[in-house]
Amino acid sequence: MSDNFTKLAYETVQQSQSYFAVAHKTISSRLRSLVDPPVEQKTKPLPPQVLQEMQQRLNRLMEADWSDAERGLYPASLLFDRSWSDFFLYYPAIWLDFPQMWERVKQKRYQEFSPEIETEGYPGYYLQNFHYQTDGYLSEMSANLYDLQVELLFNGTADAMRRRILAPLKQGLTGFSGISPRQIRVLDVACGTGRTLKFLRGTLPLASLYGMDLSPAYLRKANQLLSEIPGELPQLLQGNAEELPYLDNYFHGVTSVFLFHELPGGVRQRVINECFRVTQPGGLLIICDSIQLSDAPEFKVMMENFPAIFHEPYYKNYISDDLVGRLESAGFTNIESQVYFMSKYLIARKPA
Ligand SMILES: C[S@@+](CC[C@H](N)C(=O)[O-])C[C@H]1O[C@@H](n2cnc3c(N)ncnc32)[C@H](O)[C@@H]1O
Repeated sequence: MSDNFTKLAYETVQQSQSYFAVAHKTISSRLRSLVDPPVEQKTKPLPPQVLQEMQQRLNRLMEADWSDAERGLYPASLLFDRSWSDFFLYYPAIWLDFPQMWERVKQKRYQEFSPEIETEGYPGYYLQNFHYQTDGYLSEMSANLYDLQVELLFNGTADAMRRRILAPLKQGLTGFSGISPRQIRVLDVACGTGRTLKFLRGTLPLASLYGMDLSPAYLRKANQLLSEIPGELPQLLQGNAEELPYLDNYFHGVTSVFLFHELPGGVRQRVINECFRVTQPGGLLIICDSIQLSDAPEFKVMMENFPAIFHEPYYKNYISDDLVGRLESAGFTNIESQVYFMSKYLIARKPA
């Protein structure tokens, strides 16, 4: 397949996903207002230039993703990595879940779990129906729907945004060129269903990979995904990122994707401190999460609307939090920040 053809195929798939997600959101929100007309308008209208700006940012994200694959940083097959069986199995389930989700929103029940779900032992801030998700992060069904829901939320760009951690990580690990690739250890904190670990495996085929998360159901889903791919299976552990279950100075690289906006401020600091503790001197931490107000003032209305549409109790605090200050206070230095589409990336080094 020629590069031009592959690039065209990639752009076509990405754009189709984006149109599909927009159609999904438009139809579901119209249906919802038919079934249950809103009593109050909780969101503000978006300024007209926002959609155009978003399209430009989406194009830049695709260009960067394509160009990293083209220069061999990761295999081009990752650009087309989708589980069609999950799509056909679980997309209908998303629609079937809507009525109970809408009821939950109407009744403002944001901490609701099915009686058979074990909620003992989890921190209070975690026991939430983030995005109004049925059973929060604590059921098999939630784990099965999650990847699709996130792709729909981000107009089909969630994986492309996750892949933006790969170039700075690979670059940062060159500082350890004295050891063999097999000795490199990388941890993904709050690995969820394992999408980032799958991309890490494609990029660092020989490295020892580790993933941790609080949700046993999401870890089981990650295990299922990762056992289908070649290479050593990443070691998955259930635990709280506030107390990472690893030795000091153990990992050459630590990553975390889409976690920090779901944590209260103080917990964010504790997790960053823990990431610092487990990172080797000379190693790096890469955080990918939502853009903040300082990254894109033109998206202020959209960022303010987000927690009103989805249940995201810590997002308002997150968008104006000083993450660089938090990283510095943990001990990280040389902190770089990048922005792609709706995500920001913080690349922080532990002094050698
Ligand atoms: C928005 S999801 C992101 C998952 C994944 N990184 C991704 O890219 O999709 C947030 C994840 O953080 C996990 N999580 C939240 N608080 C946590 C904590 N204190 N310790 C460990 N995991 C946590 C949740 O279980 C969930 O899997």
